[in-house]
Amino acid sequence: MHKKLFIPGPTEVRQEVLDAQAKPLIGHRMGAFTELYTGIINKLKELLKTDNFVMVLTASGTALMEAAIRNCVKKDVLCCVSGAFGDRWYKIAQKCDKNADAITVDWGRAIKPEMIEEKLKAKKYEAVTVVQNETSTGVRAPIEEIGAMLKNYPDTLLLVDTVSSLMGDKIDITECGIDVCLTSSQKAFALPPGLAVGIISNQALEKAKGVTGRGHYADFVGIKDYFDKKGQTPTTPAITLMYALDKQLDRIKQEGMENRYQRHLKMAQYVQEWAKKNFALFAEPGYESVTVTCIKNTRNIKVADLNKELGKRGFAISNGYGKLKEETFRIAHMGDLTLSEIEELIKNIDEILGL
Ligand SMILES: Cc1ncc(COP(=O)(O)O)c(C=O)c1O
Repeated sequence: MHKKLFIPGPTEVRQEVLDAQAKPLIGHRMGAFTELYTGIINKLKELLKTDNFVMVLTASGTALMEAAIRNCVKKDVLCCVSGAFGDRWYKIAQKCDKNADAITVDWGRAIKPEMIEEKLKAKKYEAVTVVQNETSTGVRAPIEEIGAMLKNYPDTLLLVDTVSSLMGDKIDITECGIDVCLTSSQKAFALPPGLAVGIISNQALEKAKGVTGRGHYADFVGIKDYFDKKGQTPTTPAITLMYALDKQLDRIKQEGMENRYQRHLKMAQYVQEWAKKNFALFAEPGYESVTVTCIKNTRNIKVADLNKELGKRGFAISNGYGKLKEETFRIAHMGDLTLSEIEELIKNIDEILGL
């Protein structure tokens, strides 16, 4: 039996999107691919309301986290660490031989603009990394306020991980002044894993031109040049996944972005109300994620046992991430899931736990 995925990625992919992958292949140097790929890029720009350069890389999101560092930072970068993925970005920057400093808060807390500004006043940073939706803790970073504050530091680029939020949570890339916004296909896009989307500002592209050691595979400058000349990707892309992406973008357009955001908000409110009544939220109040709820296991339930019972009924939720494995559990409400599917999940959890 298929277990419906209420985990924070991969998320459920609707059958018609899965089916879209089953078409015969085309060559990535054929006109048909140019048409497919340029169509995808235009649709992404329209849906995300951005004029920035948009690229789809055949890779998971982590590749773009690394690429953002390698393309946009010569030396000094400030990394916001409030959970596992913020920490991953910090470590990536170190592995890329950059001088990375971290702002660290306890897991479950949000990093506020004042904390970043304090660091920026003391030292000049080329870029700041922010995980907009920390999947390990269910915390939404105040990206609007961080973006507004950073307008006073025009030489500092804003690099943002929206892996578990873009297409589910409303993020105004232009208004927030995001220079690199990156995401993966297997989360709120509701697609199979394998594609990463990057939205890159002119300022970031200009900066990249002066940075050495950008590498080849995810070199923003090379990818943009190739796209401008040919409307294609420099290396062989996952063409079948592009079919699915193209189909899904049409479906998202049909739903309407505002409706999509509202659906995510309603699902989040429902799960969070339930969690507050029966357990407690892990996220700092006021900073709850719109796409994934991290629940404090205040009843000391055995999450593995709950998931086993849920599995028999055709559902899967997620345990806590890393060091929070026993302390928390997570319910994702992102992608194409509906409120009634969430209600059904919660009803089943209530039955199993006798709530
Ligand atoms: C916030 C966040 N950033 C980055 C990643 C890594 O993405 P990927 O597994 O697509 O490389 C994840 C994956 O769960 C994530 O949730």
